[in-house]
Amino acid sequence: MRIGFFDSGIGGITVLHQALKLLPNEDYLFYADTKNVPYGEKTKEEVKQYIFQAVQFIAEQQVKAVVIACNTATSVAIEELRERYDFPILGIEPAVKPAVQKWEIHRKKVLVLATNLTLKEEKFNNLVKRLDHRDIVDSLALPGLVTFAEQHEFNDELVKSYLEQELSRFDPSQYGTVVLGCTHFPYFTNVIKEIFPEGTDFISGSIGTANNLKRILDCDHLLESGSGDIAFYNSGIRVEDTATLERYRQLLRMLDGL
Ligand code: SIN
Repeated sequence: MRIGFFDSGIGGITVLHQALKLLPNEDYLFYADTKNVPYGEKTKEEVKQYIFQAVQFIAEQQVKAVVIACNTATSVAIEELRERYDFPILGIEPAVKPAVQKWEIHRKKVLVLATNLTLKEEKFNNLVKRLDHRDIVDSLALPGLVTFAEQHEFNDELVKSYLEQELSRFDPSQYGTVVLGCTHFPYFTNVIKEIFPEGTDFISGSIGTANNLKRILDCDHLLESGSGDIAFYNSGIRVEDTATLERYRQLLRMLDGL
């Protein structure tokens, strides 16, 4: 059986990319809700409706596990999804814990970059309350990066000037660790790195999610040796046209180089 991956758009491919490194012989179904992206600027109720519809579709395709490869979707719906289905459902959270632990190395603050909805949600705020004993965690919503990614706009100069503008009220030298708390953001790692001083750490939750996926499938004796096939779906429609498929494969290759 396949492993389902779900995201509002192409951000989840950054998590799929990590899973492919660990589990290259599994078969995958990748579902992007391209009709309704971006989620981060919508209401919780609206987004939940989209997520439930998409995950129900994925469940009907016979999957052995589903990865909610979207920080926003994880923060608003992961608990309810786990109640609805009996296969493992994994999520992705901003990697606040490892970032806060880096205080011991840098003695500098942590900046969490995510969507507005993720940052507003109780899940994120409870996480920060529980872990940020030194009051070192700041956050910033960067919805423009989701738009750039969905438009396949990876022009460094354009992205850099957006980032410089959004970060103008922050002093980059104060931060030792930057958390990429949205699965769309790793595409821009190199540009984000240019803004912060050398030695700054950049952490995303995707490696942790891929490790968890492997561990859970192993524990449940669900690891299989498939052909490494990936079936892409856009809002419930199987992607068949070669140009779109090639674009998705190009993104995976681009992530190889980051
Ligand atoms: C978005 O759709 O706004 C981005 C979702 C995410 O990865 O948090």
